[in-house]
Amino acid sequence: MPVRFEVNGKHVAVDVEPRMTLVDCLRHELRLTGTHVGCEHGVCGACTVLLDGRTVRSCLLFAAQADGSEVTTIEGIGTHEGLHPLQQAFRRHHALQCGFCTPGMILAAIELLRDNADPSDEEIRVALSGNLCMCTGYVNIVRAVRAAAAGKVR
Ligand code: FES
Ligand code: FES
Repeated sequence: MPVRFEVNGKHVAVDVEPRMTLVDCLRHELRLTGTHVGCEHGVCGACTVLLDGRTVRSCLLFAAQADGSEVTTIEGIGTHEGLHPLQQAFRRHHALQCGFCTPGMILAAIELLRDNADPSDEEIRVALSGNLCMCTGYVNIVRAVRAAAAGKVR
């Protein structure tokens, strides 16, 4: 079936199987492999993207459900030359190791900071509680989000 939506500011049109998930569409049809696939059943948060500005699990949505919407993936928030402040903060504060969880973490943190510009550590932990990290122990992730919120990213 034909699906049209906007990804990172670009209009795209794809033909997909009705059962194709949004994450598979992003990765396999559009080659946006920054969105990761972990559990494939809504638990780990690795596949988090923004759909019309709100975080969603792209493994739990069909691509067809994004028809007419705006999707933002990790590729859409910064460039190699101009990292997003949260990307800078994650790098500065060693908030990643393998990086598998990082795209989802950063998109969840973008939503948090848009809703709450000065979150407490507890609020950061709650906001990111749906994004699992097997490497870092979360301390530096919280530190990075706090630094980005404070504008201290370098
Ligand atoms: S891959 Fe979607 S929540 Fe884990
Ligand atoms: S950095 Fe490896 S899973 Fe989070």
